[in-house]
Amino acid sequence: MTLLSVEGLHAHYGKSHVLRGVSFDLAPAEMIALLGRNGSGRSTTMKAIMGMVPVTGGSIRLLDANLAGQPPHRINRAGIAYVPEERLPFDLLTVEENLIAGLSAARTGQLAWTIEEMYDYFPRLCERRSTKAGSLSGGEQQMLTLCRSLLGQPRVILIDEPTEGLAPQIVEHMVDVICDINRRGVAVVLVEQKMTIAKRICARSLVMGHGAIAFDGPTEALVDDASIRRQWLEVA
Ligand SMILES: Nc1ncnc2c1ncn2[C@@H]1O[C@H](COP(=O)(O)OP(=O)(O)O)[C@@H](O)[C@H]1O
Ligand SMILES: [Mg+2]
Repeated sequence: MTLLSVEGLHAHYGKSHVLRGVSFDLAPAEMIALLGRNGSGRSTTMKAIMGMVPVTGGSIRLLDANLAGQPPHRINRAGIAYVPEERLPFDLLTVEENLIAGLSAARTGQLAWTIEEMYDYFPRLCERRSTKAGSLSGGEQQMLTLCRSLLGQPRVILIDEPTEGLAPQIVEHMVDVICDINRRGVAVVLVEQKMTIAKRICARSLVMGHGAIAFDGPTEALVDDASIRRQWLEVA
């Protein structure tokens, strides 16, 4: 069964043709890594799926709905959430107000995530619940952005370089939380630059190159294929 199906996706920034036929499928509750060098088009792929970058060709299907060309709020309501690289909590709202702003009702047949569960995942956010988001550290903002997206009760969450620039212990904790979210049934696309985390937690990986998917298969096969790694990935 397929939850999300992206087929022949194209996107441009002005005259620059960045996505040139990106295709992949995601099964319900699957977790995959989307790897590639800086500038390879991983974030553009996520933003095109979310309707944040105009799609100039191809289709995006979530179950039976065709989402290509829909505005971001519709795509979000259909069940896809995006946690961008740029952390975007509302600066002037407190941690708790940000979480409340993200909260949606449960989907039929699905358990709903609660604010208390977010505080269990990240006790630091609970301690800082009355602090304005603008004065949080980078790591705390990253936690808050993830939690706020999750409270929208998505079926699929697209997480863009969540561990970039974080201290090693915070990275470990973030990885544990992402695995737990996935174990509880949310499908995950984890965007990363290197294989380090994908190797540990994603059975399947995609690699972007030349605006398309250059590799789609078991992460182990990628670990074994030095030529693909050399061609498309940073040296890990
Ligand atoms: N807003 C933008 N305007 C113009 N070009 C952009 C914009 N965002 C990204 N690009 C270009 O598109 C290409 C893909 O970028 P991006 O999707 O951010 O890659 P990645 O996330 O893999 O690092 C790069 O060449 C980048 O410079
Ligand atoms: Mg990026």
